[in-house]
Amino acid sequence: MDYFVIEGPTPLDGDVRVAGAKNAVLPLMAAALLCRGESVITNVPDLRDTRFFLDLLRELGVAGELGAGTLRLETASGVRSVTAPYDIVRKMRASIYVLGPLLAACGEARVSKPGGCAWGPRPVDLHVAGLAALGAEMSEEHGYIVARAPGGLRGGRYRFEPVSVGATCNVLMAAALARGETTLENCACEPEVVQLGEALVGAGARVEGLGTRTLHIQGVDELQPLRCAVIPDRIEAGTFLAAVAVAGGRIRLAGCRLDHVAPILGVLRDLGCEIRAEGDLLVAERSGPLRPVKVETEPFPGFPTDMQAQVMAAAALADGVSFITDTIYPDRFTHAAELERLGANIEVKNGTATVIGVAALQGAPVMATDLRASAALVLAGIAARGRTEVRRVYHIDRGYERIEERLAALGARIERVAG
Ligand code: EPZ
Repeated sequence: MDYFVIEGPTPLDGDVRVAGAKNAVLPLMAAALLCRGESVITNVPDLRDTRFFLDLLRELGVAGELGAGTLRLETASGVRSVTAPYDIVRKMRASIYVLGPLLAACGEARVSKPGGCAWGPRPVDLHVAGLAALGAEMSEEHGYIVARAPGGLRGGRYRFEPVSVGATCNVLMAAALARGETTLENCACEPEVVQLGEALVGAGARVEGLGTRTLHIQGVDELQPLRCAVIPDRIEAGTFLAAVAVAGGRIRLAGCRLDHVAPILGVLRDLGCEIRAEGDLLVAERSGPLRPVKVETEPFPGFPTDMQAQVMAAAALADGVSFITDTIYPDRFTHAAELERLGANIEVKNGTATVIGVAALQGAPVMATDLRASAALVLAGIAARGRTEVRRVYHIDRGYERIEERLAALGARIERVAG
């Protein structure tokens, strides 16, 4: 397995462009199952997760090609299978996104239960209950979620509790082809959910309320193929900005949507980063000391849980004590123990990490456990004194394209070693 070797400390300096959003392209790929014909999606990041999802769609009978950032998904020959097999789903939880579209387009779907992830359980009860509200018969058979709607789906009403990005996407996609009107309440309004809704509308769906907690969907008989460009990845943008917070220096970020990263900028400025827009660029620098922060993750437009680990890496070097609470995933702190191997001083209790800042981190071998934890360890390694090895970097390859090359272009001393 490949690993990264990082020599630090190195301040960052240079320009970087934000890639298309992983968490936007995955539901868009699933939505292609609702459409007849060739969907074309551009600004697609070439990631392990994108490739995994393409493998899944091919397994279902979709002809798909990804090249030079453009994804072509042909469904004219129809769906060959309605089963998302365990061997694919276990590698990528987002496979659950095919449940709603397969059910709506084919009247049935069998998706392996995704199980948990590095930091604990990842339930799918809201996906199941939301689809049942559209008239589907839902059951579990031998580790698979089985959904049936032989007579097609009908409009219904459902309220998500808690707010769920995945369940909102799944039920929104199914409702697009359900007969009649659907009202969904307490919806996620992350930019990735809004883009999915806009892409569906562009294909002929009738959706009102995008960007708010309440969606009204009037089902239609069929959808045209998707035509859309994936929005920039706000979490990747936040990760590069957090890298400046951790390592110091100055970078210019291109292709970033200010309205999407606003919740992240507030915390980074509290940490001591100066961040300003210069034309289409976002300029971030940090030359002074890092300041402690008190952060709570929340659904958009709150501070995202996907940035929690990266901010912890910065807080580890702050002048004082920081408190980081993840209200969405209270156990999402596997990175804390690995950061402690680098000399950080962190105590995790009841969903809150108390981070007592230290003067410097020391390089050491560490283990990546999940996508954003990996990113946090890489950022910490760039700031740590000496050599850091980050193992199991396949985690980071799921959500960041060539991250070591792009960080090296910003001056980090990082290289990938084939393991
Ligand atoms: C999406 O996961 C993202 N993944 C995650 O990003 C992100 O952390 C998460 O949203 C929260 O923003 C993709 O978009 C592919 P949720 P998802 O359903 O949809 C509970 C990354 O690093 N819940 O919004 O699975 C759940 O336990 C990944 O890019 C239920 O109780 O997250 C959590 O507490 C990691 N029942 C809360 O809702 C359900 O049926 C939010 O989860 C579903 C969720």
